[in-house]
Amino acid sequence: MSLAAKIPEIQLDSVEMRYRTEAADVLALHQVSLDIAKGEFVSLLGPSGCGKTTLLRLMADLITPTAGDIRVAGKSAKEARLAQKYGIVFQSPVLYDWRKVKHNITLPLELLGVKRSVREEKALELLELVGLQGFADKYPWQLSGGMQQRVAIARALSMEPEILLMDEPFSALDEFTRERLNEELLSVWSKVQSTIVFVTHSIPESIFLSDRVFVLSPHPGRLSAVVDIPLPRPRTPQMRNSPEFFELVARIRGSFEGV
Ligand SMILES: Nc1ncnc2c1ncn2[C@@H]1O[C@H](COP(=O)(O)OP(=O)(O)OP(=O)(O)O)[C@@H](O)[C@H]1O
Ligand SMILES: [Mg+2]
Repeated sequence: MSLAAKIPEIQLDSVEMRYRTEAADVLALHQVSLDIAKGEFVSLLGPSGCGKTTLLRLMADLITPTAGDIRVAGKSAKEARLAQKYGIVFQSPVLYDWRKVKHNITLPLELLGVKRSVREEKALELLELVGLQGFADKYPWQLSGGMQQRVAIARALSMEPEILLMDEPFSALDEFTRERLNEELLSVWSKVQSTIVFVTHSIPESIFLSDRVFVLSPHPGRLSAVVDIPLPRPRTPQMRNSPEFFELVARIRGSFEGV
């Protein structure tokens, strides 16, 4: 293994995030240290307010920690952001209703001044990747919520990011659509091979998707457990009903007890 391959893709060392508000200071994250390997799929799991979004925003350099250090591929989070290493998908897809689907996907490329023909070709390729071929000329309001979220994923992938940060992208969707999108996301991931950090409240979702689950607890937000998910890949829907899966659910649930 080369030296470069041994450097974790994302590395947090004693990271603290304190929000200063007029009323009081909020210690959102306390002493968080973790490593994420290149190409790994990890989830950040925990109850509301435990600091998942804060952790994701720190990794993306959208906010700066009040203490501790964040390295991305051996660089600072800011250098990684400037090198466009990140793609981000939020809970709601934030699409522009007046732009066609293909033009929503190519917006980041347009802002960079990439040629129209190259952009259009890329949009078609990405639409196929997320299973939306044939929808290029539709408008977002003509699509279902699940389809809109797939458009948002395609847009995040347009810059070919090394790291995809996803903040509860499927939590507004019904259970059936969510499970299907979980499978589709894994299929996309196997093709693009980026590192994925996925935020969720759902224990089964975190298990189905991840190589490892980082369990966070609130007040103050901290890392309370790291659980390896040894289920083989590719993951299949049947695995959700396996004894191994239920055992992992029980283990993760147990790690919340007494918190
Ligand atoms: N901009 C801010 N200013 C002040 N406090 C904040 C800010 N953003 C988050 N917080 C506080 O930090 C803590 C962690 O918030 P965060 O949004 O990271 O949690 P979360 O785990 O993503 O929650 P949810 O599951 O509800 O999205 C909460 O107590 C929240 O109120
Ligand atoms: Mg959040």
